[in-house]
Amino acid sequence: MTRKFNDAMGTHPITVTEAIYSRRSVRHFTDEIVDSELLTTLLKAAAQAPTAMHEEPCAFSVIQDQGLLHRISNEIKEAILATRSDKSTFSQNAIKIVQTKGFEIFYNASTLVLICGKFPGRFVEADCWLAAENLMLAAYSHGLGSCVIGFAVDILNTPEWKSELSIPEGARVIAPIILGKPSTFTPKIDRKPPEILSWKSLSLENT
Ligand SMILES: Cc1cc2nc3c(=O)[nH]c(=O)nc-3n(C[C@H](O)[C@H](O)[C@H](O)COP(=O)(O)O)c2cc1C
Repeated sequence: MTRKFNDAMGTHPITVTEAIYSRRSVRHFTDEIVDSELLTTLLKAAAQAPTAMHEEPCAFSVIQDQGLLHRISNEIKEAILATRSDKSTFSQNAIKIVQTKGFEIFYNASTLVLICGKFPGRFVEADCWLAAENLMLAAYSHGLGSCVIGFAVDILNTPEWKSELSIPEGARVIAPIILGKPSTFTPKIDRKPPEILSWKSLSLENT
């Protein structure tokens, strides 16, 4: 069965494996707002991810205000363009994309979720990224598209934005993820097969 818009809902319940293989970053959305009940379900799924020492260091910030998202997007674009001469910060391709007329860092998605680490710690980043993958797979299984927006991390961690978004001083934005109803089908990007560096097992010949 062909799935319109990579939309898992309305066809049949999907397995975790199906979600893992079918989820793709979505960058085209309808205006439909993700309702708070569904969003709460997705945040709960994110919070089910494992965390080192069961410390549960992740907290979430949700932005569903288009004006605010546009303002953050403009500030990020300015900051990226200001690094133009420093070739080590962003690739020329990234600069070119940001310069495209009308380009929005958050692709006009209705919702931005910021997964934040509440305190510093050796595995806090890992914990937040695991929560991020849970969030994206759960979103996919509910017919929503998602995309990590790494471009947003630096600006969102400035004291000004943290204060505006009520993110405590000691916390840090780690994974910004947009969510929304996809407006187009996103084709799959093939992955390389897993590169195995070593695989040691007891050979029967040695027994
Ligand atoms: C850490 C991280 C940062 C990313 N940042 C961006 C971003 O700023 N903008 C964007 O459009 N996509 C971003 N992506 C999405 C990747 O481009 C995308 O995952 C990759 O091309 C593979 O495509 P797929 O997710 O559809 O399989 C990011 C992904 C990751 C994991």
